[in-house]
Amino acid sequence: DPALIAAGESVFKKCSACHKVGEDAKNGVGPTLNGVVDGPAAHEEKFKYSKALLDKAEEGLVWDEAALGAFLENPKRYLKGTKMSFPGLKKEEDRTAIIAYLASLPK
Ligand code: HEM
Repeated sequence: DPALIAAGESVFKKCSACHKVGEDAKNGVGPTLNGVVDGPAAHEEKFKYSKALLDKAEEGLVWDEAALGAFLENPKRYLKGTKMSFPGLKKEEDRTAIIAYLASLPK
């Protein structure tokens, strides 16, 4: 849905200080997010993740829509000990839109 993806691109302004996407994306405060949807947690080999996220990745966490939605609603509640300092997206429509946007990006 192009309208949903466009809405998600706008929501991504809340993320882009820390996260880059696209061909030339580099890790910053946060890891790049290309291919994150339906991919394994902690996918960026060179990024220094929290122990909390590395432990989840070890357990096999995959960022499917449900997991990503729960994380983005309230990062520190979903993942105690995460380094992601972001209060969360409280509106379900914002979470749905950003997941559609991220899923639309080329891996
Ligand atoms: C991790 C998404 C906002 C900093 C992550 C991950 C996702 C994500 C999916 C996990 C990546 C992986 O497993 O490789 C988002 C989205 C945001 C957002 C969609 C906006 C709605 C922010 C902001 C910051 C930030 C504003 C900085 C203030 C981080 C950091 C991590 C992270 C440091 C690593 C977490 C850890 O190791 O525990 N983010 N993020 N994020 N994000 Fe964000």
